[in-house]
Amino acid sequence: MLKKKNILIGVCGSIAAYKITFLVRLLVKEGAEVRLIMTSSAKEIVTPLSLSVLSKNPVLSEFTNHEGDEWHNHIELGMWADIFLIAPASANTLGKMAHGICDNLLLATYLSAKCKVIFAPAMDLDMYQHPSTIKNIETLEGYGNILIPAEVGELASGLEGAGRMAEPETLLKVINSYFAKPSKKKKTLKGKKALVTAGPTHEAIDPVRFIGNHSSGKMGFAIADELASRGVKVTLISGPSDQKTNYSEISRIDVVGAEEMYNACLNNFIDKDLIVMSAAVADYTPIKTQVQKIKKNGKMKSISLKPTRDILKELGEKKSEKQLLVGFALETENELVNAKSKLKRKKLDLIVLNSLNDKDAGFAGDLNKVTIIDANNKIVSFRLKPKRKVAIDIVDMIDSSQKSKSKK
Ligand code: CTP
Repeated sequence: MLKKKNILIGVCGSIAAYKITFLVRLLVKEGAEVRLIMTSSAKEIVTPLSLSVLSKNPVLSEFTNHEGDEWHNHIELGMWADIFLIAPASANTLGKMAHGICDNLLLATYLSAKCKVIFAPAMDLDMYQHPSTIKNIETLEGYGNILIPAEVGELASGLEGAGRMAEPETLLKVINSYFAKPSKKKKTLKGKKALVTAGPTHEAIDPVRFIGNHSSGKMGFAIADELASRGVKVTLISGPSDQKTNYSEISRIDVVGAEEMYNACLNNFIDKDLIVMSAAVADYTPIKTQVQKIKKNGKMKSISLKPTRDILKELGEKKSEKQLLVGFALETENELVNAKSKLKRKKLDLIVLNSLNDKDAGFAGDLNKVTIIDANNKIVSFRLKPKRKVAIDIVDMIDSSQKSKSKK
């Protein structure tokens, strides 16, 4: 996908700069032409030589060469690039980018770049949370730049929190999705609004324990990405999951328990054309969440549970004629019979059936094998494939159901 694409990377002075060496290797492997600009503090962390060897191109840092007799044309660099990735983007550079300051080659290139700019912040957690950083990031997104949010984890300072630059694989994924060619069929859902649920729910037993399930959220996130790639405005409601979306246009609401997911769905479904409920919502939740951690004193013999509200069923009751509702069914026996009965009982337009009997398919892995049934009992079975491709099949089915629904 990246063959002959010109990727310009601006590297700032953050420990995360070392990750750029891995990214450059990945990009070159995919056939991209890579050039780099480093700020002077970035050069203290990674040598220009390593990046120059890996990218097979000279690495620039100043407006002129050593001798001062050759000018490094930032305008030309900005014109050359198909995409300009600024990673790691330090708090200092973000602030300058947001305010039009250009006191180095990287910033001057940013200000004159004609191509899309992607930026991946990296800094300590307090810096990342500072209102000025938040405002600068919002300003930069407002200018049309694509943010790759920092991740939560161990930071160079030894602290834990949000501020780690996204991993090279994530940066590559975002670059790839930027260049992904939209196919012709991808236009028909453009402008629609969708609600997608994903991931598990965690039902709190006490402040440290919960009842959960093995759902990773991968399937729901892939569906949200696929819809967004076709121009759908997606609201993603996710239970606890470490997945990330590839499209910054997706608005994400994080929830923990089934009740919270219920409230988020009910508050957000009314204006949506498409509702895809792929979350593995707990069917039962503790009647009482203990305020203090339960002690190992032998007194606790059982946990009393109560059923959660069936969000999908309730949306089936509440949805308008025009809204298309998709449910999921995870079955271990009598798969088709159970899925068809759920489709009818919950008033769905489509149901996506996963069977736990299918080897290699399911909850936590990267592969899935689904059968999709529509309201006319049409059954389509797909082979085992990566969840990203399964998402394409599901969205294709949504697309054709939506078309026949709007004809009625
Ligand atoms: N679902 C929901 N709210 C719940 C439970 C499930 O919205 N409290 C949704 C899921 O998002 C999924 C569908 O219902 O789209 C089916 O989930 P599944 O667990 O397979 O079926 P259940 O309806 O819970 O029935 P059962 O557990 O008896 O198979």
